[in-house]
Amino acid sequence: MRTISSPAEMRAWARTEHASGRTIGLVPTMGALHGGHMALIADAARRCERVVVSIFVNPLQFNRPSDLDSYPRPIDDDVAACARAGVDIVFAPTSAEMYPTGFQTRVVPGPLGDVMEGPGRPGHFEGVMTVVAKLLGATNADVAIFGQKDYQQLRIVTQMAADLDLDAEIVGHPIVRDADGLALSSRNVRLSASDRNAAGCIPRALVAAAETALTTSDPAVVVASARVVLDAEPAAATEYVTVFDAETLGPVDRLDAVDRAPGRVRIGAAVWFGDVRLIDNRDLFDRELFDGDLAEGPARGPDR
Ligand code: PAF
Repeated sequence: MRTISSPAEMRAWARTEHASGRTIGLVPTMGALHGGHMALIADAARRCERVVVSIFVNPLQFNRPSDLDSYPRPIDDDVAACARAGVDIVFAPTSAEMYPTGFQTRVVPGPLGDVMEGPGRPGHFEGVMTVVAKLLGATNADVAIFGQKDYQQLRIVTQMAADLDLDAEIVGHPIVRDADGLALSSRNVRLSASDRNAAGCIPRALVAAAETALTTSDPAVVVASARVVLDAEPAAATEYVTVFDAETLGPVDRLDAVDRAPGRVRIGAAVWFGDVRLIDNRDLFDRELFDGDLAEGPARGPDR
């Protein structure tokens, strides 16, 4: 495994691999790798002959300086984990290499960026799209794998790739969850032990909502049932809970028969525990997700 920091060197390596007929799978990350990232790497390895993991804490996508400063950066552990996972290249550029003096271009999302995470995090998706466009350019990836935990990000990146005629296929990988259902996230390590325990209320709330959705066509009732679970947890401060269209990310007025097919409607939430903000989402009508017991089950497989 090699570590490359220069975008020019990264492009040169990608050109050689493509010239030899090998495909390249990219897993874009900001480091602090966990089991969710490892699942993305395994997915990339199944799809492509070469796997690149990018590790770059992208300053453009942080709208709170304290969040950028406190973002975990265990680079040596991350590189070792990539080597164990059989990754070919860790692409770990510096900020100066990604955004040299004179850098000025930004990729701006359309209306998909105006909902959920958008209003509370001005500039966030612009920063994400700009860096993802640069990572796709530097690695010349045939496939790029993103986790569905950041569902809005996945949807916006997919739209960008289509709108800008980018060559890479964008793949959404199912969310990987801890034994209590909490979605794996680099931010989880910043939770205190008691907040980590409390955070299990998020997946429980989303499952409660999915159960409620079986008996009502009113999304407000579904959201209310999630809020009951979240409000019962004193450590949790809920920013939003929303039922949304999986394609447009817009609100859903009624849950009609068509909406009840898996893949069409999701529920998402953003919840604070102290100064740590967690997000999660799930398909509202994917029946397989009810398998197993969220509260007590062993480590669960991925969900969608
Ligand atoms: O999801 C992330 O870790 C980041 O937003 C990404 C896609 C690596 C861009 O910085």
